Amino acid sequence: MPFNLRKRNFLKLLDFSAEEITYLIDLAARLKADKAAGNEQQRLKGKNIVLIFEKDSTRTRSAFEVAAHDQGALVTYIGPTGSQIGVKESMRDTARVLARMFDGIEYRGFDQATVEELGKHGVPVWNGLTDQYHPTQVLADLLTMKEHCEKELAEIGFCFIGDGRGNMATSLMVGAAILGMDFRLAAPAELQPNSDLLAKCRELAERRGAHLSIGDDKEAAVKGVDYIYTDVWVSMGEPEAVWAERIRLLGSYQVDRRLMQATGNADVKFMHCLPAFHNRETKVGEEIFQKFGLDGIEVSEEVFESPASIVFDQAANRMHTIKAVLVATLGD
Ligand code: CP
Ligand code: NVA
Repeated sequence: MPFNLRKRNFLKLLDFSAEEITYLIDLAARLKADKAAGNEQQRLKGKNIVLIFEKDSTRTRSAFEVAAHDQGALVTYIGPTGSQIGVKESMRDTARVLARMFDGIEYRGFDQATVEELGKHGVPVWNGLTDQYHPTQVLADLLTMKEHCEKELAEIGFCFIGDGRGNMATSLMVGAAILGMDFRLAAPAELQPNSDLLAKCRELAERRGAHLSIGDDKEAAVKGVDYIYTDVWVSMGEPEAVWAERIRLLGSYQVDRRLMQATGNADVKFMHCLPAFHNRETKVGEEIFQKFGLDGIEVSEEVFESPASIVFDQAANRMHTIKAVLVATLGD
């Protein structure tokens, strides 16, 4: 193997080559098969890892905890409240404390700069989501795409619909560019990716033979794709007041049956990192219904609950892919 991931941080996909990302996805598939067959080998015995969550989580926290437990590591969870972080102690000081106690640190929070700072203190740091990137989610998504179609990753086409500046759109675009995929993004002009990142991705795409197309025409963008992907229209940490503006901009970008049909691909699948607003069953879903009359926001209930929806397979793969990251960066 011409690379070594041991002791490496996992902060954003831009830090990794196509070979390294492919290795992590293949390792996740192997670890998944080993667990299913009852053959799991523990490679993290005696390791201690800390999970810092400045924002809430269901999947990412659970994935780290189960993956660590399966592999023999112990986990400490530090939530959005209950520690000195940010109140009485800076992240830099916190990092210097935790790096002396733990073998690795997971961080979910706001600015990418914080996780990059954490990553400078001698133990591997894993990004569990920042405002800018969500790289462990993309590993799970790529594994799920591979599992649901016969094609190689570089032959797969997918379209992201929604806020093109959000952590999911940007991370998927970076991943697709590095892996040479056919990536389309459909978003209104106001919500398209930042021009510096787009330029970087175009450069990577050129080198890797990827196809990137960014525009506002959703029907054109989805033609012939294997997967349609969306995310919430308002991300964690954004003020509630932005809902009205987002709904104004994205109101016609809901993934519904018509858009799935517009692909012309009877086998097209629907993807979402979750949590998703697909009905009124949540507090926010109900509030949005009361205020704006939307029953289902970024995706219709019909598509979310259809056989084309593979969102829970993505969620399950969070654990296997995070396990691969832990084993590759921390395993002996
Ligand atoms: N997809 C994802 O990161 O989910 P959580 O916010 O539940 O961790
Ligand atoms: N864009 C979403 C992703 C959640 C997994 C958020 O940051 O809230």
